[in-house]
Amino acid sequence: MFKNSRIKAAPKVVRTEQAPVAKKPQPLPSKIAFSARRQQQIARSNASSLRSSPAISNRSSPLTSPSEDHELSSRHLQVPKRKPIRQSSPSDRPKFDESDDDEDDSTSFEQPAQKRQKVQDKVGRKRQLRSWKAFSDGDGGKFKMIHAAEIVAPLRKPKAVADTSIEDVIVELQYPSASQRERYDLHFGKDRIDSVGEIIEIAKVVTEVYLTDKQADPFLGQDNGKVIRELEKARNTLRKEPTQSRREDFKKAVDDYNTAIQMLIQDGALAKNLDNRYDLPLKMVQLILKQVYDRAVSPDVDSLRKYEAGSDNVYGELLSPLVDRIFDKTKITSDQVFVDLGSGVGNVVLQAALQIGCESWGCEMAPNACKLAKAQKKEFKARCRLWGIATGEVHLVADDFTTNRPIQDAMKRADVILVNNEVFSSELNHTLNLLFLDCKDDCKIVSLKSFVPEGHQITARNIGNPANVLDVKKLQYYRGDVSWTDAGGDYYIATKDSQRLADFER
Ligand SMILES: C[S@@+](CC[C@H](N)C(=O)[O-])C[C@H]1O[C@@H](n2cnc3c(N)ncnc32)[C@H](O)[C@@H]1O
Repeated sequence: MFKNSRIKAAPKVVRTEQAPVAKKPQPLPSKIAFSARRQQQIARSNASSLRSSPAISNRSSPLTSPSEDHELSSRHLQVPKRKPIRQSSPSDRPKFDESDDDEDDSTSFEQPAQKRQKVQDKVGRKRQLRSWKAFSDGDGGKFKMIHAAEIVAPLRKPKAVADTSIEDVIVELQYPSASQRERYDLHFGKDRIDSVGEIIEIAKVVTEVYLTDKQADPFLGQDNGKVIRELEKARNTLRKEPTQSRREDFKKAVDDYNTAIQMLIQDGALAKNLDNRYDLPLKMVQLILKQVYDRAVSPDVDSLRKYEAGSDNVYGELLSPLVDRIFDKTKITSDQVFVDLGSGVGNVVLQAALQIGCESWGCEMAPNACKLAKAQKKEFKARCRLWGIATGEVHLVADDFTTNRPIQDAMKRADVILVNNEVFSSELNHTLNLLFLDCKDDCKIVSLKSFVPEGHQITARNIGNPANVLDVKKLQYYRGDVSWTDAGGDYYIATKDSQRLADFER
């Protein structure tokens, strides 16, 4: 990443921490391209006054549509490889079972009986998981959300719609709360959302997370478990024979599932069980975030490819397995504050609010990303209510984080700040470095490019350098961790530590 020989020659103070999986990251051709482009940018800009630097002042306004936008080239960070269609190419996306993180083995569905009882302390025991609103039917549990059936319908080809042998088979799925049911269209194999697959996945997560061993027995138990087996059986026959009557069979299996889960909801069992938990397994977090993304972002995902080439607004995403490890490494807890600077469509902000339950802030200036972030936030709120989960507060600000007051106030309170600055200009990274001076001690700054030059040491001549108050560690990410490359790379966690400078000055 660092091509500058001056930096390479300096003695190393950056500690390298071995990540758990011994996969060797591939070289990053895209990074070489970024680096070359950055060298040109640095040569062009004169590193003069920060605020008037071309990279900042020429940035397009968040309120205007980027007229000079270009389609991204393969040398740029790319829009996630998430397919807006059903999971027909699962190898393109990180699968739940393929996580590189061998530190967390708590999310397998294979042995629910043992795993279900395991209460982890990851997010802190202060977290209240149950959403009281979701379990009270005061307003009839009705609210606006994007039903899976609504996503499916517009994609169906006119010919298929005209084909009278294909009738709609709409099923309604009960979630683990007093909320309304979600409508799914059972057309198999043609849809943006894999309705059948998603319903079974939801049923398994609900069984694992919301039920005690005894309650789960009729769903998944070795001897009596029937409810989920019936769903899987109906799915398998529907796959072989995609007819109307097989769809009706699947619908019947869903109805049986609904009846069984409804009884437990009415008993108060699910709410009680949630009160005995403090965290959510990553699989459940990923499932909810995928549901939100599929409904709010995927239909319009192409709009994220429109940005000014070579600008700070090049788009790419950190994916949930890496974000999960970042939460682990920074030890963020539910009573803390998380900030994502340049938050795109808000994925990481939502993951923090859901998985950790903390107050979670994002700031994004690209208009298309802001529009999708707003849609995600709305759907996220609705979906968490469906699942009966209380999340941390979500704040998504549509503005420039170098000038926006609320986000800078949040930075001062933040415990963890993420900045996916892989392709930020050196001027923007320098501006950020100055903003970090206002962060509180012990705040963790997670970035793709280090804010501390490799080999940096405090000397009498660089006493004013903002890097002097950061203690940085280099870590590695792997295949499936980011949207723009299949290879791995480096990322950094810097801890704000004013004492380093104080010690030097003493
Ligand atoms: C690489 S994307 C990262 C998205 C998200 N944080 C993630 O990691 O999944 C970086 C984002 O930062 C945004 N950005 C760049 N400069 C910004 C600024 N000054 N204020 C707000 N957003 C900015 C870009 O528009 C882009 O969407």
